[in-house]
Amino acid sequence: MQFHNLIKAASEARLQAYAPYSRFAVGAAVQCKAGTVFIGSNIENISYGLTVCAERVAIGSAIAAGEREFVAIAVVADTIEPVVPCGACRQFLAEFAPNLIIVSATLRGDQKVENLSRLFPDPKRGIREDVHTP
Ligand code: THU
Repeated sequence: MQFHNLIKAASEARLQAYAPYSRFAVGAAVQCKAGTVFIGSNIENISYGLTVCAERVAIGSAIAAGEREFVAIAVVADTIEPVVPCGACRQFLAEFAPNLIIVSATLRGDQKVENLSRLFPDPKRGIREDVHTP
């Protein structure tokens, strides 16, 4: 399995999830172009809207270490269907890697591989007013 190590790292990160409100633990692991892997787990908050997804924690950790280029991210949760990043995470991921490979895996071992560009095409369109003014 091509992404075995990345999925394993995400599975281990999942065990660190702070998810007392949803009880839905998610782990993520992002592979940098240089080969390094950074992990993240979801971090919930009593003010629910402040919750941060595992994917954003992983990217934030990598960015803080000086990484800017990413090739793949694995996301692991205990679901029937593999989970894919939420809309906010898609935008967040696309900031750095619009063609990022998304590897979604379940605890049972099912997995799905797709590209962020399919989940979230044209990520910067219409976001900054100066981009489209003549
Ligand atoms: N969550 C993630 O961390 N990543 C996803 O891809 C799906 C959702 C978290 C956010 C929240 O803590 C919990 O899962 C329920 O939505």
